[in-house]
Amino acid sequence: MSTEKLAPHWWHNAVVYQIYPRSFNDSNGDGIGDIPGIIEKLDYINKLGANVIWLSPVYKSPMDDNGYDISDYCEIAPEFGTMADMERLITEADKRGIKIVMDLVVNHTSDEHPWFIESKSSKDNPKRDWYIWKDPKEDGSEPNNWESFFTPKAWEWDENTGQYYLHLFSSKQPDLNWANPEVREAVYDMMHFWLKKGLGGFRMDVINMIGKPSDFPDATIFDSGVAGWEHWANNLLCHQYLREMHEKVLSHYDVLTVGETPFTTTLDGRYYSNPARNEVSMIFHFEHMSIDREEHNAVRKPFDLVEFKAIMSKWQDDLYQKGWNSLYWNNHDQPRAVSRYGDDKEYRIISAKMLGTALHMMSGTPYIYQGEELGMTNKHFTDISEFNDLMAKFHYKKMLERGLTPQKAIEFLNYFSRDHARVPVQWSNEANAGFTSGTPWLAVNNNYMQINAEQATNDSDSVFHHYRQLIELRQGDEYGDVIVYGKHQLLDPEDADVYAYLRSYNGKMLLIVANFSKKSQTRDYDFSLKKVVLNNYDDEVSSLSALSLRPYQATIFEVE
Ligand code: GLC
Ligand code: CA
Repeated sequence: MSTEKLAPHWWHNAVVYQIYPRSFNDSNGDGIGDIPGIIEKLDYINKLGANVIWLSPVYKSPMDDNGYDISDYCEIAPEFGTMADMERLITEADKRGIKIVMDLVVNHTSDEHPWFIESKSSKDNPKRDWYIWKDPKEDGSEPNNWESFFTPKAWEWDENTGQYYLHLFSSKQPDLNWANPEVREAVYDMMHFWLKKGLGGFRMDVINMIGKPSDFPDATIFDSGVAGWEHWANNLLCHQYLREMHEKVLSHYDVLTVGETPFTTTLDGRYYSNPARNEVSMIFHFEHMSIDREEHNAVRKPFDLVEFKAIMSKWQDDLYQKGWNSLYWNNHDQPRAVSRYGDDKEYRIISAKMLGTALHMMSGTPYIYQGEELGMTNKHFTDISEFNDLMAKFHYKKMLERGLTPQKAIEFLNYFSRDHARVPVQWSNEANAGFTSGTPWLAVNNNYMQINAEQATNDSDSVFHHYRQLIELRQGDEYGDVIVYGKHQLLDPEDADVYAYLRSYNGKMLLIVANFSKKSQTRDYDFSLKKVVLNNYDDEVSSLSALSLRPYQATIFEVE
């Protein structure tokens, strides 16, 4: 039984609420969510109990990738508001004990950023080396065979200067050259600019891709991921830059930092988040996000709970006292959790609560994506014209090229499109779900009459109130330590329907049992029951032997 504790940090028992500003709440009727709209809803977030908000990018941007393409790091996009609005958001959040974490998107800028405009202007421009420019191969082709997430190739030809530039994302998102110390200094200055305004930290966009090897070798791995990742993901340079960033910036503030890091194993997780290495507080790994899809091939795989549990518990165990986990089921790049891992029809409410329970009792910092606390579902799209996301359009094209019918391609996007998460938040049963008085930039899901925040906050049996209780448990005196610092142990790894695990700390033990299936189950747990801490059904439970579990039941027990 564990009694140890890492050196404590304020973010150890924090719960983060992610806002995708464009889709959160529109205050002025232009159909686009904005910062004043967020301020209007701070009391709602406070009621839920989250004490950190991660704000997806609100910086000035041509919005090729909805703000992940920044043209000025020190300005707010006019559609989102002004700098004064942003400062007011920080102050108003602070009054409610909520810290604001901003998105730091520094693997790339927009091609409309003045740095890139200069860099592109001539080969001898002082900012030429701020981006990654290379000569073509002798036959005129790309410098190497790397692929991009949003286009077939990672290199874009510039006729004017006769060189290619690198972009791991869209051609409007050129990669910065982190090998250039001037670039790094410019990023650090910008970070100080924001942190001095009282930010709670940064979520660092694809931060594990900033280190590019100086020889730009060809990719050799083509069966998983975007070709080239073996060279630019998680390399030593990236770790070195992060330590420098820590020394020059982060060590001067007490902040939460979370790196978005695809292609990471638990060993990488320890490298990034071990406190002694001075890199980041925690990372987002992606292992459980590829459980039901072959990312690269746009192919769906069946969900396998045994594999899912193995992944989640490996992260729980391998980082125990050696790093820190972030916990998430979805975000602005992923489908809605209840549609993906639960049942978004008959058992929508029950299974959304089950998922919340299964995640929030784990060790690490939980992240709630806007609308998850309402059990918001995927939307049903019927035609490619209904999508906004550039990645959906790219995948669609790739699938048609592979010979899929448009219907099959849409079927895939109906599982995995990023637009599911970007559909506006459903606030009420009024027109456009109360999101806007105008025309929303992306059409709302028509189930808002049933699923909305007004209904959920008034109904004590809602997903919202279940999440509120989960947060209360994590932050409360009675179970806080065991939930935040307890040791984790997976039970019955081969059980294909039920996810059960233990948390223990200083003599206290919690047993979490979550039925991931639509069928009733019966299981035996060899513990004596002290208390039912939280249950998503009202049934009385008196013993843990022959415990009957209803569809998607999830219960937290205190046991001995
Ligand atoms: C990250 C963001 C995603 C964005 C990409 C490029 O994965 O989460 O939304 O498209 O980086 O910045
Ligand atoms: Ca607006």
